[in-house]
Amino acid sequence: MICIKKKDKKLLSKIFKNKYYNLPKSNGITLSEPIFDYDEYLNFNDVFISRKFSQGSRVKNFEKNFAKYIGYNYAVATNSGSSANLIALEALIKKYKIKRGSEVIIPASTFATVAMPIIQLGLVPVYVDICYETLNIDTSQIEGAISKKTKIIMPVHTLGLPCNMSQIVKIAKKRNLIIFEDCCEAHGASINKKKVGSYGKLSAFSFYVAHNITTIEGGMVLTNDKSLYLKLQSLREFGRIKNYKKRYYSFKKLKDYDVNYVFDTIGYNLRMSEIQAALGLSQLKKLNKFNTKRNLNAQKIKKIIKNYSDFIFTTKDISKYYNSYYTFPIIIKNNVNFSRKEICNFLNKNNIQTRPMMGGCLPDQPAFNKQPGRSFGNLKISRVIRDKCFFIGVHPMINNENLELLKKVLSKFFNERK
Ligand SMILES: Cc1ncc(COP(=O)(O)O)c(C=O)c1O
Repeated sequence: MICIKKKDKKLLSKIFKNKYYNLPKSNGITLSEPIFDYDEYLNFNDVFISRKFSQGSRVKNFEKNFAKYIGYNYAVATNSGSSANLIALEALIKKYKIKRGSEVIIPASTFATVAMPIIQLGLVPVYVDICYETLNIDTSQIEGAISKKTKIIMPVHTLGLPCNMSQIVKIAKKRNLIIFEDCCEAHGASINKKKVGSYGKLSAFSFYVAHNITTIEGGMVLTNDKSLYLKLQSLREFGRIKNYKKRYYSFKKLKDYDVNYVFDTIGYNLRMSEIQAALGLSQLKKLNKFNTKRNLNAQKIKKIIKNYSDFIFTTKDISKYYNSYYTFPIIIKNNVNFSRKEICNFLNKNNIQTRPMMGGCLPDQPAFNKQPGRSFGNLKISRVIRDKCFFIGVHPMINNENLELLKKVLSKFFNERK
């Protein structure tokens, strides 16, 4: 059995001090930092001691704890958020017998693997424009975008700011549509304290290394629907038969066959490992604390960029909406005397990392060029965001020194352009 020696344990606890804010600090603003301390290390080490590495009790516990945190009964952990989206959509197709060519409403401006699984499964993404102030789907355009073929609305809570779910739930009820929430960027975000990910039939999360909590790579689908839960479990795991109580199975040519080797669905292998779940269990305990720090940092960044409100702005605060701030978006106003490339290059050169707003406007990406898809309207705002928006980090490791740097760098950039 492998064990950490007593003296090593002492040294490790000294290094980590069991507090994430004692981890080494960056001298700039990075986009994200995986915040692992002694707790993650011990949990990680435990997996080695147990010698059980593939999906097992830790994955089950992580599923149970995360489902409880969001407010749903069932969870199926996966190897990524993209995989979570894939099996969530496929489970819906199977349960509701959704035909090929049916449509799924999504925001035009989002990450690629919101639309990709829709296309991979023979469905059609319908791109709806977003709002300038929230970067979320413009709910006033959803009804117009619905056709006879529309079956699912897939809102994405962009960068941690919740979508207008009361409006989306109302439309879905009226038009008899299924809601599947993509919460890959919104762990712990809520409306009136009700967490996002608890509004639809299903919701999907990502635990990629850049996200609010991380298992390095990883994802999860949540639901309150037992039949969807069983389908998700089977799809994740080779199409293995689920909910079969006996050890041996008999069917036509299969006589007394071990149920672990009976497959009743065409599935995948998208499982999470015990190592990932061990990290997830530690991370989940810290999620609220991380989000509080993200919000504090966001308020400080807002104060800094307010000085340049003639040039740039960020998303608005909405009363009773809790933004979990995956990253901090900055939108450049029209008719300014600099480009996004200029400001981003300037920031990057000065140790402040930036990225454009994910896929920009998805139908404009080469991958979607010749693929099925329908755009509703001219997607004007999504295209503005494609060209004029970028984000910077807002994670808990960012300290006042880093924010002072941001203040100085922005002041220099804008002073040169007065
Ligand atoms: C909205 C959204 N959906 C899905 C994903 C895919 O998650 P993953 O990177 O874990 O595959 C991402 C990635 O960050 C995302 O931002």
